[in-house]
Amino acid sequence: MKNFANLSQEELEILENSSGGITFDNADKMVENAIGTFSLPLGIATNFKINDKDYLIPMVIEEPSVIAASSKAAKIARIKGGFAVTADESYSIGQIQVLNANSSAISKIKESSKEILKIANSQSNTLSKMGKGAKEVSCREIQTDSGQMLIVELLIDVGDAMGANVTNSMCEAVSPLIEKLTQGKTLLRILSNYSTRRMVSARAVFDKEEVGGEEIVNNIILAYQFAANDVYRAVTHNKGVMNGVIAVANATGQDSRAIEAAANAYAARSGKYRSLTEWSKDQEGNLVGTLELPLSVGIVGGIINVHPIAKICTKILGVSSAKELACVITAAGLAQNFSALRALATEGLQKGHMKLHAQNLASAAGAKKEQIDEIVRKMVQENNISLNRAKELLDQT
Ligand code: MEV
Repeated sequence: MKNFANLSQEELEILENSSGGITFDNADKMVENAIGTFSLPLGIATNFKINDKDYLIPMVIEEPSVIAASSKAAKIARIKGGFAVTADESYSIGQIQVLNANSSAISKIKESSKEILKIANSQSNTLSKMGKGAKEVSCREIQTDSGQMLIVELLIDVGDAMGANVTNSMCEAVSPLIEKLTQGKTLLRILSNYSTRRMVSARAVFDKEEVGGEEIVNNIILAYQFAANDVYRAVTHNKGVMNGVIAVANATGQDSRAIEAAANAYAARSGKYRSLTEWSKDQEGNLVGTLELPLSVGIVGGIINVHPIAKICTKILGVSSAKELACVITAAGLAQNFSALRALATEGLQKGHMKLHAQNLASAAGAKKEQIDEIVRKMVQENNISLNRAKELLDQT
């Protein structure tokens, strides 16, 4: 990995020695009433080929099996060329809520859209210089229990940033002019996390034989149909997708709450909450999976600037744009869903989980590195996986 990602000695030391990357002083500047820091495991998923490029994918996650499962899925997907992923440009949506707008408000806003965009773009020289920034103004009326409201929306090309701050600043900056034009009162001025102008679509073909044969391919499709038609299953199915998505998002310092909120809204876009992935067969009987997500991520700004490990993870990934990062994250989500469905449609989850659980127990019982494998082997063989048994076996060594 050191060579693949061209990591410096200093970066390796940060990975090995810092317990999580940020100091108490960093934490104290990031949040209020800080009392410490909290670290999670960081691992690397292997075998990923995405749009013909090889990746090592850092994942931050506390759940055993996820990283191994992603790597295994990526290995199978590689046989048929890996993941093909496309992403929109990085357009964020800013919303301004206008109360008591007069009847000519929408036409006035349309007529003044150039002026509105100019004010919005005065908030970011960086985006303006790159030819990015606020591009469009649009209006929608919504009916509420408190009467009609006008929602003015800014469409902003935020480039390689997640873009929350700049979007919020632009919304606030244009609000006095919006009030003047509409003769109304603006209330909320904020980014929408439902980032439907930042859609990402991933597709992968999983070789029939490597999946385990026709019956398993069919069973995975039946498992998908369950999620496509039952909300209780769909939530769990999508949670599995998020195991991949959020693990990479966490490693690269993204706003995971924004990603999840958008994904869940998208899953319910038809009025019914459904599976985010779709599974079918191609003509040769191989399994084909797709995942489409609204995904708002960045490689500049946010905690990447302050979190040394998020910076190193982004370097390990070798992504050069927010769009590329979005493609990687979506591929990880699809991979993770494949592995979960395959495990569930075959031997079930617990076998794999129990081995990792046994390892944790052996370690908690005080076993040294070289003793763990043997204790785990015995506990699994006896089907008696507990802390007490781990302690007994340790005493016998
Ligand atoms: C566990 O973290 C995720 C799964 O429950 C997802 C699924 O059921 O598809 C295995």
